[in-house]
Order: sequence, then structure tokens, then C-alpha cells
Amino acid sequence: MLPSATSEKGSAPSQATFRFRCIGCGSVSSSAAQDFRCSQCGNLLEITDSSWNSQNPAALKSLWRERRTLNEGIDLSGVWRFREFLPTPASEQQIVTLREGNTPLYELPQSSRITDVPRLYAKHQGLNPTGSFKDAGMTVAATFARQAGYHWVACASTGNTSASMAAYAARGGMRSLVLVPEGKISWSKLSQALDYGALTCQLRTDFDGCLRLLQELVRRAPVYQLNSINPFRLEGQKTLAFELLEQLDWEPPDHIIVPGGNLGNSSAIGKALLEMRDVGLIPRLPKLSVIQAEGANPLVRTLREAGGKRLVSVQAETRATAIRIGNPASWEKAVKVLQATGGACEQVSELEIAQAKAEIGAEGIGCEPASAVTLAGLKKLLRQGFVKPEETVVLVLTGNLLKDPDYTMEFHRGDLFKDTPYEQSAKLDRFRHPPVVLDATLDAVIKTLEQAEKSDPTHSNV
Ligand code: F0G
Repeated sequence: MLPSATSEKGSAPSQATFRFRCIGCGSVSSSAAQDFRCSQCGNLLEITDSSWNSQNPAALKSLWRERRTLNEGIDLSGVWRFREFLPTPASEQQIVTLREGNTPLYELPQSSRITDVPRLYAKHQGLNPTGSFKDAGMTVAATFARQAGYHWVACASTGNTSASMAAYAARGGMRSLVLVPEGKISWSKLSQALDYGALTCQLRTDFDGCLRLLQELVRRAPVYQLNSINPFRLEGQKTLAFELLEQLDWEPPDHIIVPGGNLGNSSAIGKALLEMRDVGLIPRLPKLSVIQAEGANPLVRTLREAGGKRLVSVQAETRATAIRIGNPASWEKAVKVLQATGGACEQVSELEIAQAKAEIGAEGIGCEPASAVTLAGLKKLLRQGFVKPEETVVLVLTGNLLKDPDYTMEFHRGDLFKDTPYEQSAKLDRFRHPPVVLDATLDAVIKTLEQAEKSDPTHSNV
């Protein structure tokens, strides 16, 4: 018998209720933290709070700046620093934090040259505590899971959610259950979940199969679901946009480009942009564009084949395993965000992803394959004329380079596209830097050095 939501800790059940708005029928209701779908139409809920609209933008900007200089408490979190736009926990002691957020905004000089976009930036969410953007959402959702008295939290994952959830559960004194597709997530992400103490189940199915099973499980067992249909997750992920705008001195970029998988992150960023515009923190909306891998492109197809009216799901296949998702839960939220901000939705090939990842690596920052779709997508949107070179563009890099070392090693060794149509493509050769095995002599190393200098005298990786 699993302990119920509260019995293990012996604490009183949380009576806290929150205001939710249905993204389908628009009805607003108050209910507890565990309701994710509208009782009337079944669509996903999002959190809303009327107090958000009565804030003074100038006062908020200086308050948030001041908090950045503080050296203790929840202001050390780049998420809770923006708590005026987050649901409020019963007390600060409830907050489960690993000092997430506070991620850098980098210039990308080499990619700027390649794309001819001088004002090109990367918001590197891979520099969060567990190496991905999930931490910004997890601190909020784990906080409310703990406040509601849950003993178990659970997620289906392509890897990053599970790593993040396991860490925050451990930090918050909860147990975590992870459902991942067997053989289809990187070892690096799986090893994180193990180290943080999750009960990890590798299921013989894909991500979509894991998520389906989890939906059934939460109806039968007192576990709290921490996938991105959990609206508290998305509230935390909103802060990426607040922090980004602060880093740009509240001058909105023209474009923000994100990878699309289960489509929670694009929904969260879009929600934040609309809230910031409504309260007067920014004068206009950036266009938010979503990029998918060609083999995992349900949103692209939903828009092209069904005008965004019904989900066209796919059997997903891509080496960017983080976004290997064919049946995204938050597709309706993402469609609304694209419409509200005027953004585009595009797909990129495996070859384009591999090249873009190498180019971001050559900037000295690196990212995981799923994040690299943003640069690949930007190139495509430039060719289409949707993005103009003189515009300001921000790529959201969602995961750390170290999240998928197998991909990187196979790329550099030339094995990544073995037995695929891209096998013979020489396009990527100039990006490869395979390790060189040598005798341990000075001569051998000097010779290799000279050869490297000869073959690349301009000292340029790209
Ligand atoms: N980039 C990375 C590195 C991811 O891990 C994910 C999703 C995405 C992009 C897509 O974000 O789902 O909000 O559209 N990873 C999930 C996981 C699904 O289980 O880790 P999304």
C-alpha cells in the first residue's frame, strides 16, 4: 500500500487552492494543486492570478534588480526572485530550491558571422543545477507537491525531466518515480536520476507510451505528476523570459526561438511574454518560434495539415532524443502562443541539427542536440525571410552539452549517421574533431600539432 498524499508525513492536508483558467473554454475556477484539466471541457488548465495585473512595472524592475544583489534566502533562486508572477507557497520554508535560474545570456560571435545576424544571443538554460531548463519549473512544482503533502512524485520523460524531478524530490524529502523509454534516453540523464535516488523504470515503449501509462497510474495511486501538463511547472519556466528581458534591459528581442517537444516550454515562455506585455513590463511582444526535428514534427504537421485545430500525432524518431515526442500534451497551448506572438513553426533535418550543434560547440558553450534545433531553425527562417538579419534573435538552449556525450562522440568519430541516408554526406567533415591515438612521444605530438595547423591555419572551427 502506498502512503496517501499526507499520511507518511503526518501533516494536515493542504487546503490551499489556486485560480486556474481553462485554455479551451476559458472558464476560471479555484481548485487544489492536483487538478490539471478542466472539469467542463477536459482541456489543460493554466494558473492565473489577478494580482499579477496590478503590479507597477517600474517598481518591479528595480525590486528584481535589488534582489539580485542579495546573498541569502530565496532571492538566490533566479526563479523565486520573480515571485510576483508565481503562485505563492504557504511559507518560504516550503520552497524546494537548488538555486536554479540565473543562467547566462551569451553572444554568439561565430554563429552571428555564419548567419549574418549581428544581434544573436543564446539563453543557456543548460547551465541550471541539473543541466536543463526543467529546473526552473521543477522548483515551483516540487514546492507545491511538498506543500500538498505528497510522498511520491512521478514523471514520464525523455531524460531531462526525470533528472530534474529526481533532484528536486530528493532535496524536498519526497520519493520519485521515473518512467523512461528503454534504450531511448541518454545514459547521462538516466545516471542523474539514479544518483538522485529515483525509482527508475525503463519501459519497453516510447515517451508517448510512458506518458499514457503515467496518466493511468496517477488515477490509481497517490503520486503527484510532475510532467509539463502540471501548470506549476510552467509557472516556474515562465521566469526564463523574465530573466531574459531583464538581461536585455527590458528591450524585447524581435525573435525568441525554442525547441519543441512536449511543448510545455514554448507555452510557458509565451504565457510569460503575454503577462509581461499586459502589465507594461515590455512595450511589445517578441515573436516566439518553435522548431522540431523532422522525424518528430507533430506541431509542424498540426499547423500545416489541420490548421492548428486538431493534433496530428506522429511516430517520433530523431537522434535528438530529448524531443523524440510524437503526441505532445501541450500542443493547444503552443498553437495559441504561436498565434498570439506571430511566431513560426519549422522542422529541421538530422544533418542540420548535427551541424548546428557543432557550431554552438565551436562557440565554447555547447548544448545537447535538441537545443541545437534552434540555430538550425534560425537558418531556415532566415532563408524564408521570416527573420531579417537586422533583427535581434535569442536562441533558447535547453540542455547542457554533457547531457548526451554519446551523440557528441559518435559525431566526431563519424559514426552518428551510420546506416542512415546521411552516411555518405561529407558536409559535416569539417566540423569533426576526432580524438587522435598516438604513441606517447614528443615527436608524435608535435607532428600532429603541425598537421592540425596546416589543415586549419585560420584557427577557425567553422
Ligand atoms: N530541449 C530539451 C533538452 C528537452 O529535454 C526537452 C524536453 C525539450 C527541449 C522540449 O521541451 O517538452 O517543453 O517542448 N524534454 C522532456 C523530458 C520531454 O522528459 O525531459 P518541451
